[in-house]
Amino acid sequence: MTDTPALYGGTPVRDQPMGYGSQTIEQRDKDAVLDGLDGNYISRGPTVEAFEEAMADYIGVDHAVATTSGTTALQLVGAAMDIGPGDEIVTTPLTFVASTYPACHQGAKPVFADIDPETRTLDPAAVRDAITPETVALLPMHYGGHPCDIEELLAIADEHDLQVIWDCCHALGTEYEGEQIGAQRDVATFSFHPVKNITTGEGGMVVTDDDDLAAELERLRSFDMNYDVPGHEDEPWYQISEGLGYNFNITDFQAALGYEQLDRIEEFKRRRQEITARYDQAFTDIPGLETPVVDDGVDPMFHLYAAEITAKFGCSRKEFVNAMHAEDIYVQVHYVPLHYHTYFQSEYGYERGQYPNTETVYDRLVSLPLYPAMDDEDVEDVVRAVKRLHDYHTDSVRAE
Ligand SMILES: Cc1ncc(COP(=O)(O)O)c(C=O)c1O
Repeated sequence: MTDTPALYGGTPVRDQPMGYGSQTIEQRDKDAVLDGLDGNYISRGPTVEAFEEAMADYIGVDHAVATTSGTTALQLVGAAMDIGPGDEIVTTPLTFVASTYPACHQGAKPVFADIDPETRTLDPAAVRDAITPETVALLPMHYGGHPCDIEELLAIADEHDLQVIWDCCHALGTEYEGEQIGAQRDVATFSFHPVKNITTGEGGMVVTDDDDLAAELERLRSFDMNYDVPGHEDEPWYQISEGLGYNFNITDFQAALGYEQLDRIEEFKRRRQEITARYDQAFTDIPGLETPVVDDGVDPMFHLYAAEITAKFGCSRKEFVNAMHAEDIYVQVHYVPLHYHTYFQSEYGYERGQYPNTETVYDRLVSLPLYPAMDDEDVEDVVRAVKRLHDYHTDSVRAE
C-alpha cells in the first residue's frame, strides 16, 4: 500500500513549513550583531573593512568591496567598468534578473547565450556565437554553486579581448582545481541574501585583483565622493563628488554578522555536502529524478540542490512542486528563463523558443531544501515526501 501524499489526501510529512533555503543563525551571530550596534559606527565603519579583508583573504584576491546586496554589487560593477549604451554583455538566460544589471542599468544590452544542460551554466559554443563587435564583457553565473566552464570562457575572453564579470552569488565556498570561485579574472560578485551560502540579511561583495577598478568601486559605492582632494589636506570637511555615484554602503552590524558567518563557512560547506550526499544516495533508484552533476576538479558548496523531474518520475514538475508544497516543503524553481520576462521581451525583443536547452531544463527543474540548519529529520522528511510521491504514481500506473 502506498503512503498517500498530502496532495491526494494523506497527512503532510511536515508539521512545520520548510523552505528551499534559509539562514543559519546561532548565538555567536546574534552576539556579533549586538556588539556591532554598541560600536561608534553603525553605518559603514571598521567592521565593514574587517569583513572585506576577511573576504579578500578567503577568496585569495587583493580587494573586496562590500555593498548592500548582490544586485547592487552587480550594478556597481557595470558603472565602475564604464559599460555604456551600444555595449553588449553576454550572459545566461537561466539566472536571476540581477545578473543582467551591469548591462541594463548602464543602457547596454544583455545578450543571452544558451546553457550546457548538464551544468546549467553558459555553453562556451553558444557564447562564441553570441559575440559581436559590440561585446565588451562576458557575465557567466555559476548556477546552483557549480562552476561554469571557466577555462573555456577565459579563453574566449582572451581571444576577443573581453572583460569577465563572474556572478558568483550562488557559489561562495566552491573550489575549482583548488582555487576559490571568485578568484578568476577580472571581477566577481557575491550575495549575502539569507538563502545564500552565508548571510548579512541583505548584502553583497565585489572582489577583484584590479587596483584601479577597486578604487572606482569604492568611490562609486559612496556618491563618487573624493574624501582626499589634493590641496585641501588642512580642510578636514572638504569632500567633492566627481561623478554620479550611489549610496550602496552596508552597515557595520551587518558586516559583523557576515564576518561571523564567513568564519564558519567550512562548517556550512560540510553540512551542505552531507545533505547533498544523502539526497544523491536516496534518489539513485528513483527513475525520472535526475540529481545535480559535479564535474572533475570541482569541490562544490551547492547553494541549490537543483534536481530535474522527467517523464519517468510519474508526474509533471508542476505536480511535483504542488505535491511538495502540500507536504509543507516549499521547493522552488530557479529560474523562469529571462527571455520569458516581460521586461526583456519589451526592452530587448527576446521571445520564447530562442534558447532550447534553457527551456528544456527549466521545464524540469526543482530546487529541494538545502541549508546547514536542516537537521537529519528535516532531510529525511524531504526524502520521504519525494519517495511517497514517486511510489504513489508508480503504483497508480501499475494498477491501470
Ligand atoms: C545569480 C544571482 N545573481 C544576483 C543575485 C542578487 O543578489 P541579492 O538578492 O543579494 O540582491 C541573486 C540573488 O538572488 C542571484 O541568485
